[in-house]
Amino acid sequence: MSIPSSIIHLSDLRKSYFLGKQELPVLKGINLDILRNEYVALMGPSGSGKSTLMNILGCLDRPSQGKYILNAKDVSHMPDDALADVRNKEIGFVFQQFNLMAGRTALENVALPLVYAGVSRNLRNEKAMHMLERVGLADRSHHKPNELSGGQCQRVAIARALINDPSLILADEPTGNLDTKTSIEIMDIFTAIHAHGNTVVLVTHEEDIATYAHRVVRLRDGLIESDKLTRQAAKALN
Ligand SMILES: Nc1ncnc2c1ncn2[C@@H]1O[C@H](COP(=O)(O)OP(=O)(O)OP(=O)(O)O)[C@@H](O)[C@H]1O
Ligand SMILES: [Mg+2]
Repeated sequence: MSIPSSIIHLSDLRKSYFLGKQELPVLKGINLDILRNEYVALMGPSGSGKSTLMNILGCLDRPSQGKYILNAKDVSHMPDDALADVRNKEIGFVFQQFNLMAGRTALENVALPLVYAGVSRNLRNEKAMHMLERVGLADRSHHKPNELSGGQCQRVAIARALINDPSLILADEPTGNLDTKTSIEIMDIFTAIHAHGNTVVLVTHEEDIATYAHRVVRLRDGLIESDKLTRQAAKALN
């Protein structure tokens, strides 16, 4: 049974990759509920299955077995086009490598999801500009990725992830390529996104970064090893 306020409900979720005929089990039975407006850090050793899980949560991939209920919809075994539709409407994904289009300006990169959504050019630009303002980059709207710093590129990627007003923001090591000062700036943006009402799930290797979240879920060898509230959660309750 799914808890009504869960945005994410996973039950006995499993994922294997196949190398030829050899099965490589990576996720080995994950049970997890994430409530609306939670702020979760996903941690665990390299190879424990964090990115595999994030890709499933982000509807970029499907589980081999088990259930994934997203916003009360069973997306576990949806066909590709239906899954893409859910992804575009419900999810904003931020990657470690930013994944921006090199030939396009910051504004064009941010507006891109709206092109797929069929929004007119004027409205696209207006909304993209507003998102760039939210991440503090209005003055760089006409710069291309190679004319921006790493932290600025990540802000553009965050603005792009937010433009469809998704309920769920997923970020796989969003500060993995950034120095400490820039990482803190990026984490402040995630904190603001969370305060704005979004559910945030982010992967990090760094304990300092995880302290921004309200809950830390640790994976080990494809299973949840621990699941704990952080001091931020205690502060938020007071
Ligand atoms: N497309 C794939 N085909 C086959 N094996 C894969 C594939 N993607 C990941 N794996 C394997 O699955 C396991 C988990 O990988 P995953 O990328 O989820 O780990 P991770 O926890 O994100 O690690 P890291 O912290 O290094 O990013 C690893 O053993 C990896 O080699
Ligand atoms: Mg990974």
